[in-house]
Amino acid sequence: MTLPLEPTILVIFGSMGDLTWRKLAPALYNLLLNQQLPEHFAVIGLDMKKESPDEFRLRLRDGANSFCECGGVDEKTWNGFALNLSYLSGDFANPETYTALNGKLKDYEKNWGSPANHIFYLATPPAIMETIVKGMGTAGLAQDKRRTRIVVEKPFGHDLPSAVALNGVLISVFDEAQIYRIDHYLGKETVQNILAFRFANALFEPIWDRRYIDHVQITVAEQVGVEHRGAYYEHAGALRDMIQNHLMQILCLIAMEPMVSFEADEIRNKKVDVLRAIRPIPEDQVQQLAVRGQYGAGRMNGHKVPAYRAEPSVAADSSIETFAAMKLHVDNWRWQGVPFYLRTGKRLQKKLSEVMIQFRPVPHQSFPTTAALAWQPNYLMIHIQPEEGIVLRFQAKQPGPILHLSPVGMHFSYQETFKLKSPEAYETLLADVMAGDATLFMRADQVEGSWSVITPILNVWEHTLPLDFPNYPSGTWGPDASAVLITQDGRSWNHPTLAKKLAP
Ligand code: BG6
Repeated sequence: MTLPLEPTILVIFGSMGDLTWRKLAPALYNLLLNQQLPEHFAVIGLDMKKESPDEFRLRLRDGANSFCECGGVDEKTWNGFALNLSYLSGDFANPETYTALNGKLKDYEKNWGSPANHIFYLATPPAIMETIVKGMGTAGLAQDKRRTRIVVEKPFGHDLPSAVALNGVLISVFDEAQIYRIDHYLGKETVQNILAFRFANALFEPIWDRRYIDHVQITVAEQVGVEHRGAYYEHAGALRDMIQNHLMQILCLIAMEPMVSFEADEIRNKKVDVLRAIRPIPEDQVQQLAVRGQYGAGRMNGHKVPAYRAEPSVAADSSIETFAAMKLHVDNWRWQGVPFYLRTGKRLQKKLSEVMIQFRPVPHQSFPTTAALAWQPNYLMIHIQPEEGIVLRFQAKQPGPILHLSPVGMHFSYQETFKLKSPEAYETLLADVMAGDATLFMRADQVEGSWSVITPILNVWEHTLPLDFPNYPSGTWGPDASAVLITQDGRSWNHPTLAKKLAP
């Protein structure tokens, strides 16, 4: 990646919000520490809240201090950085807000004696995004195609029609090449490494298909509950919040065909091919192919935690899912007959994101049955977080006079191998926007393709009340139906899923 040396002004819409505080502030501070910011760099915070510039600076400082892996901000470094942080409060629907913004952008450029790149970051709820984009369009803020970029946070729409509508508004003001739709999972090192692992090695690609792979599991499990985000989550749920974006993007990286070059559009084309090949789920099969759950009260790390329905801003009879699992098929030559099982949930037993590629058994078992009592299929485990690495499990002979086979693992750990901390996803993504590299961002057709896959499930779930909610206690691996989804095919999740056994 080339260093983003051109003067840059980052404008954050929704600058007093949670995302700016929790993710953008620490990412910017780390980029500063790593000397990855241009010499001329400024941040303009824009929000409806009537705050002073000092309050904005304090909020950013607090975010950097609380969430930066650097162990807290250094006073002197921060004070230098804070000189280029300014704040504008204004109504996003009022044209004057954009005139004032334009004035501020010009002031910086005048002071620097040079034009700057403008990055508009929409860290706002989707409902207001169209208004902002139109406001920028009317004010002529998107005119310089080379110097202007727009970053759009998730959730990207609420369903397929709203995503199509938002794309329509964006494209009426910006060119597709100026639009950076964020999925922060794509900024994670371990997710990026999937491509390197698959296509920079001759070893795995020849066996990466239906002839050798039995099935694929993608798990993104969280321990946290919905926390203070009840108001947002009540309109989202696990399917929209996690599967539509993060899990679907991981699936694309696992299933895509080799790219011809590392060009952004080439990689994105290959991913879109996967989305197009996913077998549509007929509404009358949603019941068999998808499972939803909602956490009840339980214990996490020894502490009692409340049920989802008892969380702030959540309806006492909410039918929003905090857990979702599904079985998908990718209908192409490579993957015919190989199921992909996806699951994600909040308040699960452990925080972990991983992909398990399970291989088929050997074609002929030549060892005596007694030798292979502990036989387990070969698998490749890609650990995304919190552990970062790859494990390949295979059979080995146990030392000793009697022939016993036992599963063993070859481990690659990022930490042990590279002795470096992986950059946070937002750091990588912000640096890429500044450098104008869109490889890790989603194109309109990717977002829409992904909404299409889950639309039948959304429809059915919206129209059928989940009578068994809450159906898994906090601190377990989700509802029992999630186990059934995979055991009915004679397979099992990599982690035990029967909720009752683990319930407090
Ligand atoms: C966000 C979701 O996109 O991803 C959150 O909105 C979720 O609900 C978060 O907690 C998980 O991200 P990470 O990086 O902690 O796995």
